[in-house]
Amino acid sequence: MAFLLLTTLVLLIGMVCAFVTNQRVHEHTGPSVEAVPETLLSLRGLVSDVPQELQAVAQQFSRPQERVQEELDGVGMSIGSAIHTQLRSTVYLALASVSSLGQALQVSMDHLRALNATSVELQVAQRDLEPAVRDHRDRLLALLQEPGCQGDCAGSLSRARALELDADFSQVPTVDDVLHRLKGVPEANFSSMVQEDNSTFNALPLLAAMQMAKEVADLKKMVAQMPKGVKSLAKGFPGSDATLRWSQALEDLERDSRPYLQEVQRYETYRWIVGCVLCSTVLLVVVCNLVGLNLGIWGLSAREDPSHSEDKGEAGARFLMVGVGFSFLFAAPLILLVFATFLVGGNVQTLVCRSWESGELYEFADSPGNLPPSMNLSHLLGLRKNISVLLAYQQCSRGAALWEVLKLNDSYDLEKHLDISQYTSKLQQELQNLKVNMQDLDLLSPAAHRDLEALQSSGIENIRYGDFLVQIQKPVVRTDVGELAQELDRLAQAQGSSALGQQLQEEARGLRSLYQQKVIPQENLVAELNLHVRALESSAPDLQRETSSVLSNVTYLKRELPAWATRILRNESECFLARGISYFSQYVDWVREEVTQRIATCQPLSGALDNSRVILCDMMADPWNAFWFCLAWCTFFLVPSIVFAVKTSKYFRPIRKRLSSTSSEETQLFHIPRVTSLKL
Ligand SMILES: *[C@@H]1O[C@H](CO)[C@@H](O)[C@H](O)[C@H]1NC(C)=O
Ligand SMILES: *[C@@H]1O[C@H](CO)[C@@H](O)[C@H](O)[C@H]1NC(C)=O
Ligand SMILES: *[C@@H]1O[C@H](CO)[C@@H](O)[C@H](O)[C@H]1NC(C)=O
Ligand SMILES: *[C@@H]1O[C@H](CO)[C@@H](O)[C@H](O)[C@H]1NC(C)=O
Repeated sequence: MAFLLLTTLVLLIGMVCAFVTNQRVHEHTGPSVEAVPETLLSLRGLVSDVPQELQAVAQQFSRPQERVQEELDGVGMSIGSAIHTQLRSTVYLALASVSSLGQALQVSMDHLRALNATSVELQVAQRDLEPAVRDHRDRLLALLQEPGCQGDCAGSLSRARALELDADFSQVPTVDDVLHRLKGVPEANFSSMVQEDNSTFNALPLLAAMQMAKEVADLKKMVAQMPKGVKSLAKGFPGSDATLRWSQALEDLERDSRPYLQEVQRYETYRWIVGCVLCSTVLLVVVCNLVGLNLGIWGLSAREDPSHSEDKGEAGARFLMVGVGFSFLFAAPLILLVFATFLVGGNVQTLVCRSWESGELYEFADSPGNLPPSMNLSHLLGLRKNISVLLAYQQCSRGAALWEVLKLNDSYDLEKHLDISQYTSKLQQELQNLKVNMQDLDLLSPAAHRDLEALQSSGIENIRYGDFLVQIQKPVVRTDVGELAQELDRLAQAQGSSALGQQLQEEARGLRSLYQQKVIPQENLVAELNLHVRALESSAPDLQRETSSVLSNVTYLKRELPAWATRILRNESECFLARGISYFSQYVDWVREEVTQRIATCQPLSGALDNSRVILCDMMADPWNAFWFCLAWCTFFLVPSIVFAVKTSKYFRPIRKRLSSTSSEETQLFHIPRVTSLKL
């Protein structure tokens, strides 16, 4: 009884395990089988997303494009500013010298005109003065030579002899032809001309921007285009025609596997039902054993009580025998199921799971001929080089990029796509078209030019200023008219009240009024003339030097400025080009890194392989193996259960029956089953 109970308990445990694992296998099969197409479809993205990603990378070309276009917006202005800054000091200096020369010209012209006017006036006045002075002299000489003259008549006589004009302004050179040559000079308004030029020059940045507007627009149009290689970045990718093949293969695989997967699920359901039924039969055996044992023990314990019927012991024995019958009946299907599940589970475990874990499975896939040609990875991905699944798996699980795993550099010439030299050389060519026009900057207007040339050829420096000064240094009248008048007054008093005295007095008065009215204005004119002559004498040579230097400087600048401006323009546009190229080459570097290191990591591949292994081995094979093990356990323990049940049932039968059948306990042991089986 104890052994039977123990065996029954062992059976019960095995049965519970079998139930549980049977259920687990069944539960895991559905999701696992459904995960297969999902896993296959997830692999599709591995290659088919690459063209989109490449497209996105190619789209990023707009970044450097936008940067360059933004800079192009300001390029005219910045080139203009650079030219302005570099030419500023030269141009300001030239304009300042033109401006000061203009002022000096105006001042000299004023002096020259005043000199002409003054000298003409002096000549006219001299013509008027000369007879008046001669009249006075003649009269005085006559009076002083009169015999009645008393006092120092001789002294006064010699002074009166000197009463004549000294400076002779008819002797001064004429400036008529100089003035004639300078007629209408200055024709130009130098200060406003300089102002205008200065503001024209200061507006150079704006002017340059305006002048370059059309070329800049062309440049922007050119920059807006995409280099052919970058545009076709995605198209040239070997994955792009392989994508179709790859996803087609995966879809085919998925479609083809679907019926099998459904079959698998169907058979799994059958297996589950069979498993459940067989577990239930084991349960039946267990229940029979337990009920039989209980009834039998009850029957045994009640045997001493004569009033009690012996049916319980009989029933217990029968239950045990029913259990034995079930055991016999279901042993064969149990053994069959165990064998079948063991065969499948064991093979999967040893052939697939172990070699998968150790990587031998990949090596198997790598050796040619083991897989159907339609599953050849190199062929599917359109690669020139043969790739190893094992290596790919290892690289992928390390997180390597598809580029490295698929050795794409052998099938795809990335550098050809990233070659933007044609694009940049076109940019360079277009930049050559930029021009800046400095013609608006006149420096000297034609009128001003004529003025300066007239001045240069006027001979203003050749006027004989010395001849003027000779006359200017001489007094207007050779003797001092005021003193002579005083002397005459003194002499008149010495004459007493004679007629001579009165005449002398009159002469003195006449002389004074002559002095006041004619000589002093003449002296003032001389002083004025002196001013102009000295000013002109000192300034004329400088003026001529200045004029010729300004003229040659301006001619030189007008010839050279455009060349300088063009040189600065070239420098600036080269800087601009270098900057633009640096943006584009930064982009190219980024694309190179992105494509070879970041785009499409192939982790999905290794992930899918790992997932498949987990699904097949951990989720399905393991419970499956546990199931057959438990079932085998139950089947194995059915044998001792049968033996102990038969043995025990003998003791449960009523003693009467036992005695009536035979006397030997040994034979009874063999008789009872036969009897029971017959009864059954
Ligand atoms: C020209 O303009 C600049 C800036 O307005 C000024 O500094 C400079 O003095 C001017 N030059 C002349 C000659 O007027
Ligand atoms: C010189 O001055 C006189 C008097 O003002 C004037 O009549 C004459 O036209 C001037 N000569 C020239 C060449 O301008
Ligand atoms: C795949 O195909 C290539 C030729 O296209 C062949 O060299 C290679 O051995 C094949 N790989 C496998 C695993 O069959
Ligand atoms: C591809 O890359 C590998 C490793 O960097 C190099 O050895 C091989 O020469 C490259 N192939 C081509 C065609 O550039």
